[in-house]
Amino acid sequence: MKGIILAGGKGTRLYPMTKVVSKQLLPIYDKPLIYYPLSILMLAGIKEILIISTPTDIPMYEKLLEDGSRLGISISYAVQPEPKGLAEAFIIGEEFIGDDSVCLILGDNVFFGQYFTDILEKTKKELNGAAIFGYAVKNPKDFGIVEFDKDNNVISIEEKPQKPKSNYAVPGLYFYDNQVIEIAKTIKPSPRGELEITAVNNAYLEKGQLKVSLMGRGMAWLDTGTPTGMMKASQFVENVQSRQGFYISCPEEIAWRRGFITTEQLLELGEELSMTDYGKYLLSLPEEII
Ligand code: G1P
Repeated sequence: MKGIILAGGKGTRLYPMTKVVSKQLLPIYDKPLIYYPLSILMLAGIKEILIISTPTDIPMYEKLLEDGSRLGISISYAVQPEPKGLAEAFIIGEEFIGDDSVCLILGDNVFFGQYFTDILEKTKKELNGAAIFGYAVKNPKDFGIVEFDKDNNVISIEEKPQKPKSNYAVPGLYFYDNQVIEIAKTIKPSPRGELEITAVNNAYLEKGQLKVSLMGRGMAWLDTGTPTGMMKASQFVENVQSRQGFYISCPEEIAWRRGFITTEQLLELGEELSMTDYGKYLLSLPEEII
């Protein structure tokens, strides 16, 4: 399975913070926002990743993450010239996806919860068509919303409905088989001029190939769409990290624990950042087991 991180958009809701810096490069507490979705793909065991962003922002992502080899993965880059919708990722990424299945994650989505790695692995393994998630929110008008019958079968999915039929939002984490490329090519732009991911999900629903799993109340799916959301997400990460001593979404740690890189490589990455707590954390990891 391939992975795509969509980190495009103008981030206008966060101006002036994002006037010259891409939103997904801003910090959530101690690391750039994009580290969080990158970690989720790595936890799903996905090692070939495409980052899609604007022509001006791509060079900065390349500077930050290079070709991924330092994390034992492969990262390539592609341009989305205009923010024409999430589903365009599969058209831009057609060659990268090839004959494979694909997981799309939005560059500003932060997830954290126990057993999430198991859920990701299971979703990947059992994929038959499309797999998405449902997460209860208080502001359903702001998201793609999924409606169920009493046996948890999906009845409908609507993009930012005026009258939401449930309070279950679809988070920005989607698993698709290879049909997604052709489906993305057939959908028409919505009234807001975007190729909506909801239209892709509806196409799978019509085929009877859409699986929705609910994320329970023990899962955190944090909003980073506003300055307040970013601050609250930062506080959440700081709280958990300072209490437990374990970092949330540390790609270097995941790479090492998953065996993508050796202990020597991890220590090298730690040395480079040894002036920070982040670097000291990396350097401390092997001590746990030695
Ligand atoms: C997008 C999707 C929406 C989804 C949301 C998750 O919304 O269109 O279905 O629920 O991401 O973050 P957008 O960020 O484009 O407003």
